[in-house]
Amino acid sequence: MIDCKGRIAVLTSGGDAPGMNAAVRAVVRTGIAKGYEVFGVRRGYNGILNKEMKRMTFHDVSEKLQHGGTFLFTARSVEFGKEEGKQKAAEICREMGIDSLVVIGGDGSFKGARDLSKYGINVIGIPGTIDLDIAYTDYTIGFDTAVNTAMEAIDRLRETSNSHERCSVVEVMGRSAGYIALWCGIANGAEEILLPEKFDNDYDKLIEEIKKNREAGMTHQVVINAEGVGHSNSLAKRIEEATGIETRATILGHLQRGGSPTARDRVYASIMGAYAVDIIAQGKKNRVIGYRQGQVYDVDIFEAFQMKKSIDDYQYQVAGILGTRCDYKNM
Ligand code: F6P
Repeated sequence: MIDCKGRIAVLTSGGDAPGMNAAVRAVVRTGIAKGYEVFGVRRGYNGILNKEMKRMTFHDVSEKLQHGGTFLFTARSVEFGKEEGKQKAAEICREMGIDSLVVIGGDGSFKGARDLSKYGINVIGIPGTIDLDIAYTDYTIGFDTAVNTAMEAIDRLRETSNSHERCSVVEVMGRSAGYIALWCGIANGAEEILLPEKFDNDYDKLIEEIKKNREAGMTHQVVINAEGVGHSNSLAKRIEEATGIETRATILGHLQRGGSPTARDRVYASIMGAYAVDIIAQGKKNRVIGYRQGQVYDVDIFEAFQMKKSIDDYQYQVAGILGTRCDYKNM
């Protein structure tokens, strides 16, 4: 390793997100440009445990930027979840001379990184999840693409819903986060949005609103339901039975995770990937990278976990006022 500043490994973990490839490419190319050897780890943390690591060249990351998914593959590792797994992963990193590990993933992947840091490995996190559910950052890789994908699908759905004068319940991803639903709620002009952080389970009120708006002349309705609220099929049945309005459920599912990343996801992912190498070069340890107030920044990984993400109340209010939710009508 003469003339080499050190070894950096990069992996993607958890649910894939469009833009992850752009981030990996940026870590590899910036790392090489700044005098590091960069290793790509396949299949997330499993790849460390199975020593699936390959030294990357500048050209190994050609033709990746524009594709969704992750060419490094991703996984949720059961073995790494255990304490012995993390210890073993740290030993393997040391054995291979890996000084820093860049982890691109969501909350769960960051928890793994945080715990690995306790075994002496320097970890740098880049937020990659379509859910936008990481508290310290206003941007996560993949959210922009996923919202645009869902928005286009819902636009199409609205056309057929309108033609048949139906009510459409559309379920978007977000196991415990309603950001995709909130943004589609505004972008698609949804009549109703149900978010796990906000929905009070008052289905009778929801049905009453749908009924009232029909009576007032609305010809069709779109209800965006976040995955975290769920039960879209039974909700559609319940609405139909209670209102007599023909109602269909559509679950968009994993199609929201695929597709070519938007310009925003390509650019921010690239900047975050480069930034990860820059802070390693500055000697920073155990940081996660975020975006806030127009700036890319980094924060201590332990501190990041103290922060709580909540739904932006003002955005939620706007979605309500522009839709048909009664609770915001007379504010
Ligand atoms: O990527 C985040 C997410 O899309 C969540 O919204 C969803 O609940 C979860 O991943 C599902 O992931 P998988 O089906 O791959 O386990």
